[in-house]
Amino acid sequence: MHYDPRQNDHGLPRDPFKALVAPRPIGWISTLDTAGRANLAPYSYFNAVSDRPYLVMFSSFGRKDSWANAEETGEFVCNLATYALREAMNATSASAPPEVSEFDLAGLEMAPSVAVRPPRVAASPVALECVTTKILPLQDAAGEAARYTMILGEVVHIHIDDAIIRDGFVDLARAEPIARCGYMDYAHVDGLFSMERPK
Ligand SMILES: Cc1cc2nc3c(=O)[nH]c(=O)nc-3n(C[C@H](O)[C@H](O)[C@H](O)COP(=O)(O)O)c2cc1C
Repeated sequence: MHYDPRQNDHGLPRDPFKALVAPRPIGWISTLDTAGRANLAPYSYFNAVSDRPYLVMFSSFGRKDSWANAEETGEFVCNLATYALREAMNATSASAPPEVSEFDLAGLEMAPSVAVRPPRVAASPVALECVTTKILPLQDAAGEAARYTMILGEVVHIHIDDAIIRDGFVDLARAEPIARCGYMDYAHVDGLFSMERPK
């Protein structure tokens, strides 16, 4: 089959797009609002986009709290969502009023960050502390404004749980990250294979 996604005439019961660019890593974004209240939410339009400097991005459908906080305070933290934390991650996607912290909602402990003010998720084995570098409004091929905005940040401090380091390498299967597939589906990394790049 093939179809024009702008017409959405795929004839399937649900839009398959998110199942086609998958699995997507989940940026579990912690921020503080200007009043210092903690916020936490998952974003699967998330990725690393540079390692010189270290840059990550997440993309927000409208001005959600994570975007507003990352813009207004200039800081955010990306926590790794793992299989063990899957229910808590999902719980933090609820739209809670600003006075309710998703940390409390999901029964998660905060741990202090080193270089930025937003806390990280204590139980997450990896956290990337970020300084916001750009708020990028997205657009389509005709220049029409998209409903998503990309938030980019430079990673200025990194936490790795020693338990997932083996022989000097990060053993990702020990962390068991989860990733977003289409529909209600997720994947989890529990095995890896290696390949050398051609010379
Ligand atoms: C696994 C997962 C991935 C998500 N990815 C995104 C995303 O990429 N962009 C987005 O706008 N919302 C995404 N959401 C929905 C947000 O997490 C949700 O709207 C949340 O309430 C936003 O919280 P905030 O307003 O505190 O930022 C996702 C939800 C889940 C469960």
